[in-house]
Amino acid sequence: MLAITMKTTAFQTLRLLADGDFHSGETMARTLGVTRSAVWYGIREISGAGFQVEKVHGRGYRLERAVSLLDVEFIRRDPGVHAAGINLEICDTVDSTNTRLMLHAAQGARSRLALAAEAQTAGRGRRGRVWQSGIGSTLTFSLLWRFAQGARELAGLSLAVGVALARVLRAAGAGDAQLKWPNDVVLPGGKLAGILIEMQGDVLGPSAAVIGIGINVRADPRVLAAVDQPVADLETVTGAAVDRNRLLAQLLIELSAVLEQFTADGFAPLRAEWQALHVHQDQLVCLTMPDGSLVSGRACGVADDGVLLLETGTGVVRHHSGDVSLRPLQAGTDA
Ligand code: BTN
Repeated sequence: MLAITMKTTAFQTLRLLADGDFHSGETMARTLGVTRSAVWYGIREISGAGFQVEKVHGRGYRLERAVSLLDVEFIRRDPGVHAAGINLEICDTVDSTNTRLMLHAAQGARSRLALAAEAQTAGRGRRGRVWQSGIGSTLTFSLLWRFAQGARELAGLSLAVGVALARVLRAAGAGDAQLKWPNDVVLPGGKLAGILIEMQGDVLGPSAAVIGIGINVRADPRVLAAVDQPVADLETVTGAAVDRNRLLAQLLIELSAVLEQFTADGFAPLRAEWQALHVHQDQLVCLTMPDGSLVSGRACGVADDGVLLLETGTGVVRHHSGDVSLRPLQAGTDA
């Protein structure tokens, strides 16, 4: 796995450089209370993490492109985040925000705890896959949400979260964003965002869900090279720099609203919206089962519990979240 991270001084230096303006080594050293050589090592790490750093004699260093780094105070001050009762923490580097929140959940952490990280060294995707991310180019965070219900009653949760994510990304400029069952957010060019939900608790309840979200914000050549599927990013599609703090605030607000609705009424009220966003709705598709076998049919939607409904020659077959992947058939192939 590609593990892009940096030491604390490098992160602090990057925060000073994030605006894209020139900063002298001397000023940065003074601001951070470190030596100039510590700043120099920080710059070296920043370059190693994939940033283009320009050095001009007499002016100092600057990033070729400004970068939006996470600012916990900015997000906490957002009235919507505050009203949603979210308790947000941000860290520079973590193994995986999901792993951390699963540990916190087991230790009794309260619902609505969110953790975002600039870098993950062991980011995880669905079905045991690795989730690759880069500093400043990806938005990676997790949200702990507690339910009175047990895991069995939360079957449509991952699809409900997909609706919240698609709403925010479409509002942020990715107007063509759609959902690929169960909950990838995709653009015509590739995957824009993914969701990993992990559960804890009793089958009959109560239970806790750790909802992990990874969004490709800016094209990052190092991440692209390490990923084996087409990837899309928000800045390319919007043609503008994305403020990751505003995006995270909007996501936390929308997730809270959808999770509250889901807690009260389940997935059913969100089903029509999910289907309207479904990239394969009414198309002939092929499901790849975990054992490698293939099932084909017409994707005719999802049920109230979030399962995929596939119309085959023998009737409508239900497929459960997490067990299958979806692939369009070649043109001209029969269902
Ligand atoms: C997928 O599409 O396979 C799911 C990707 C989920 C990635 C996010 S990034 C934040 C959180 N922490 C992790 O380790 N994974 C999720």
